[in-house]
Amino acid sequence: MSNKVAILGSINVDTTYHVERFPQPGETIAALSKSSAAGGKGANQAVAAARSGAKTYFIGKVGDDNEGEFMLESLKDEGIDTSCIRVDHGHGTGTAAITLDANGQNDIMVYGGANQALTIDDLKGTDSVLDDVDFLISQFETPQVVTTAAFKEAKKHNVTTILNPAPAKTIHPDLLKYTDMVTPNETESALLSGIKLDGEDSMVKTAKFFASQGVKYTLITLGSKGVFYATPEGHGLVPAFKVKAVDTTAAGDTFIGATVSQLHKNLDNVEDALVYGQRASSLTVQQMGAMPSIPTGEKVREALDRD
Ligand code: ATP
Ligand code: RIB
Repeated sequence: MSNKVAILGSINVDTTYHVERFPQPGETIAALSKSSAAGGKGANQAVAAARSGAKTYFIGKVGDDNEGEFMLESLKDEGIDTSCIRVDHGHGTGTAAITLDANGQNDIMVYGGANQALTIDDLKGTDSVLDDVDFLISQFETPQVVTTAAFKEAKKHNVTTILNPAPAKTIHPDLLKYTDMVTPNETESALLSGIKLDGEDSMVKTAKFFASQGVKYTLITLGSKGVFYATPEGHGLVPAFKVKAVDTTAAGDTFIGATVSQLHKNLDNVEDALVYGQRASSLTVQQMGAMPSIPTGEKVREALDRD
C-alpha cells in the first residue's frame, strides 16, 4: 500500500547543455546539444512519489507564464493534486541551467523566480491537505521561513515532516525543531552538522547531532555508495545498486519521493523502503534529464524482481 504525501517545494523548467567538459572560468565552449524538461527538486520528488503510487499533493508557486502552465499540466498529468500551487504575477516560473559533461557529472544554476516568492500567506487553504497526508516533504529551493511555518502546522496534524536540505545552505534556526526526518547528502550533512563524514562512526555522530536538535530520523545519501539510516531503534548502511550512471540529475529527488511512497509511519520497514527508493534512483541515473528519468512503480518492481 502506498502513502499519502504532500510536497512543499520548487517547480523549475530545466535546460540541460550537454558538453564534452566543463568550461574554465572566463572560457566560452560549444555545447554538443541542448534539451529541456520539467524539473525542480520539489516537483521531481512529487513525481517520484506519484509514479510509485502515492496520493500526492503539491504546495508551491509558478509564474504567470508558459513555463508555469507547462509545469502545472505536467504535474496534473501525473495525477498530482495541484490545487495548492499559486500563480505569482511578479516573478517568472523557476528555471535551472544544467551543464552535463561526458562523464555524467553535472553543474546546476537555478533561478528561483516564483519559488522564492512563496510566502506564509500562500499556506492558507492547506489544512485539508495536512488532514489527509502521512508525510510532508520540503527542500531548500523555497523560503525556509515558509517551510518552518508549514512543518510547525503539520505537527499539529500528526504529519511526519521530512526535510531534504538541498541545495546545501545554512538552516533557519527553528526548522529542525519541527523536523522529524532529515535527508542530507554528504556535503549537506557536513554543512549542517559541522561533522566531516569519513566512515560509519562519523555518520552515527551526525545522527546523534540531529537527534539533539529534535530530529528523530536521519538518512544520509552517499551517492553510488548507498544510504546510511539512523532511527531511535538502530542504524545501518543500505548499499546502492551497481549501475552505469549517465546523468545523476534528480537521483536524490527520486530516492526521497520513492522511499517515502513506501515508508511506514513508524519506520518499521525502513530497510525495505530504502532498497525500493535506491532501486528507483538507480534507474533515474541511467537516463537523461530530471523528470523524464524518474521511473514508475511498475519499472522499479520489475527491476527488483530481476535482482
Ligand atoms: P543529486 O543532487 O545528484 O540528485 P544527491 O546528492 O541528492 O543527488 P546522492 O547521494 O548522490 O543524492 O544520490 C541519492 C541516491 O541515488 C543514492 O543513495 C543512490 O541510491 C542513488 N545513486 C546516486 N548516484 C548513483 C550511482 N552513480 N549509481 C547508483 N546509484 C546512485
Ligand atoms: O535535483 C535536481 C533539480 O535541481 C533539477 O531538476 C533542477 O531544477 C534543480 O532544482
